Amino acid sequence: MNKDKQLQKLNDDMNALCACTLKKTAINVVPGKGSADAQIMFIGEAPGKKEDEIGEPFVGAAGKFLSELLATINLKREDIYITNVVKYRPPNNRDPLPEEVADCQLWLQEQINLIDPVLIIPLGRHALERFVPGRKISEDHGRAFRREIDGVGKRVFYALYHPAAALYNGSLRDTLITDFARIPKIIDKIEKES
Ligand code: URA
Repeated sequence: MNKDKQLQKLNDDMNALCACTLKKTAINVVPGKGSADAQIMFIGEAPGKKEDEIGEPFVGAAGKFLSELLATINLKREDIYITNVVKYRPPNNRDPLPEEVADCQLWLQEQINLIDPVLIIPLGRHALERFVPGRKISEDHGRAFRREIDGVGKRVFYALYHPAAALYNGSLRDTLITDFARIPKIIDKIEKES
């Protein structure tokens, strides 16, 4: 089975197994989208209204900005993999509860292990919290760091502000563009070191 098919099967199996109670209120599962061979894996918080309607991550206004950011470093959606910590929309876009994050944890771990990206990019503080609790996105955005994480081993992380935050706070737009511009060099450096 090729890697894309394996990822499809993983997502189907995990959707069937996942005990997350958000399943009951969500219209669609939003497992993730992109290449199973991606070098970069972007991880958001949870699907919003539009993502829930369509079943794909980052298809609303924040997703449009994410596509623009990718274009600034000559990447397309098909080149990367995008998913969320939680795979079902929390009602009224509230923050996911700790038990909802926990119920979707194995799924995210298995996606990371199968795709085996060079770089993991948590988008926003909730996604960063999932990997490195207690850190501040305002201090940690745009800084690559290596961490050993239970279930996924040693990985390089590069946290960024959530693109939705830039829709409400214009100054974060430039910060995101600057942080994005460093991604190709970070990938090169990791590959040279390994
Ligand atoms: N925000 C997220 O964190 N994820 C999405 O899929 C869409 C918006």
